[in-house]
Amino acid sequence: MAEFRLPKNSVVKKGTTHKSPTSGRIKKFKVYRYDPDSGQNPRYDDFEIDLDECGPMVLDALIKMKSEQDPSLTFRRSCREGICGSCSMNIDGRNGLACTTAIEDIKGDIRITPLPHMDVIKDLVPDFTHFYAQYASIKPWLQTVTPEPAGKERLQSPEDRSKLDGLYECILCACCSTSCPSYWWNSDKFLGPAILLQAYRWLADSRDEMTGERLDELEDPFRLYRCHTIMNCANVCPKGLNPAKAIAEIKKMEVERII
Ligand code: SF4
Ligand code: SF4
Ligand code: FES
Repeated sequence: MAEFRLPKNSVVKKGTTHKSPTSGRIKKFKVYRYDPDSGQNPRYDDFEIDLDECGPMVLDALIKMKSEQDPSLTFRRSCREGICGSCSMNIDGRNGLACTTAIEDIKGDIRITPLPHMDVIKDLVPDFTHFYAQYASIKPWLQTVTPEPAGKERLQSPEDRSKLDGLYECILCACCSTSCPSYWWNSDKFLGPAILLQAYRWLADSRDEMTGERLDELEDPFRLYRCHTIMNCANVCPKGLNPAKAIAEIKKMEVERII
């Protein structure tokens, strides 16, 4: 695993302690707080949560903190079941989804920060503007030149469809990209593991007819070739995907087309 890194704007001080109003099995959380409108430096607030009064996941604890102790605590969440990707954050030094990370799997106090090395909008909410612009740059949709078959969908054999397994499941949570040292230092130019896995998802699609153009776009010393196979991306992916393997497949396609 890579070293733990804080978000970009971080000199973090100790902040408020929020005591649990009940006294069961108490777990302490140290939560990164940052409000750019306040003009203050980021800080860690302590929250005590009674596990006997809380659901099992880290997201349950965050919701309890917000609804019972500090309504200003800000984080993203939607589906609560590992599908939308919006609750990605760094939980005790490891990127993951708050809604699928069990509190009981983490010993001692739990430190929660935004995804590493991203600009922070507020508290646990990183700025995804650049990440989404990189996603848009790979044209993540089916591109064709031949007309659609009349009255039919573009069909795919079961074998071709299976080539998308391990790719289509990506929920764009960015846990992989923000644990990748190459992405920390070169995210202005390197697309990073999440976006490259998505790029390969379209290269691997038998119905797509822009393979050459897609490979031309990726053939660049920074966009693709900043991956040094450190493998953090595959280690942290909460969906069990392997972006490093997808990146290796793209490199192989680049080589094969010039042989
Ligand atoms: S394998 Fe490549 S993309 Fe994945 S963490 Fe390492 S350098 Fe980054
Ligand atoms: S590959 Fe995994 S970690 Fe990376 S964005 Fe997709 S789901 Fe998240
Ligand atoms: S809330 Fe949707 S993935 Fe966690």
